[in-house]
Amino acid sequence: MLALEFVRTLIIAIDGPSGAGKGTVARSVSRALGYRHIDTGAMYRAVGWKANLEHIVLDDEAAVARLAERAQIVVEDDVVTIDGHDVTRAIRTPEIDRAAAAVARLPRVRQVLVERQREAGRSGGVVMEGRDIGTVVFPEADVKIYLDASAEERARRRAADPAHTGGAAGQAAVAEAIEARDRSDTTRTASPLTPAPDAVRIDTTDLPIHEVVDKVITLVREKVGRT
Ligand code: DC
Repeated sequence: MLALEFVRTLIIAIDGPSGAGKGTVARSVSRALGYRHIDTGAMYRAVGWKANLEHIVLDDEAAVARLAERAQIVVEDDVVTIDGHDVTRAIRTPEIDRAAAAVARLPRVRQVLVERQREAGRSGGVVMEGRDIGTVVFPEADVKIYLDASAEERARRRAADPAHTGGAAGQAAVAEAIEARDRSDTTRTASPLTPAPDAVRIDTTDLPIHEVVDKVITLVREKVGRT
């Protein structure tokens, strides 16, 4: 009974680069555990989308931070809204890939969104995915996973992703775009993408998704058993 109570309140952090499988794994794990799933990348995407809409220059830190502060962003059950606009599909385009990576470089924007993410996950029972969940948002997360895959496999997955619209870009173009985004995410000074020292690293290149999900659930069980 105690274990069951505890399992309901865990914070599970899933980090890693684009195309590593975070979304699919986080969604499946959250369903298996009856947890909420929070995709923090969607929050950066929504801010990038709204900044474009308002013709704000994406490296104008004060203006983008002000926008983020005022915006009401809801990321729930795979539906994303910002100030009442349903942007679930609109934020999955190459243009917003770039806009999100640009606003994610801005420390003041990160500060605003990290605070919201902490607020949303604080009570536990959550699988939160992103780039800095195990390092910055919840360094005390109960289970930390860092997913990775080869650059070729990540580009192949992204090119085949039907949710990602905006042109029939070939795999080579997708690979190039992913590489540029990886570079931006890993070299920025504000919370660059890096595995937490205590994260369990899983290479998903040759692993079927259900095996990755099983591994994560096993880690959660072990964690509960240990407590
Ligand atoms: O996971 P994604 O591709 O939807 O993320 C969009 C962008 O936001 C990407 O450039 C990485 C960035 N991001 C971040 O810096 N921190 C997070 N916690 C989540 C995403």
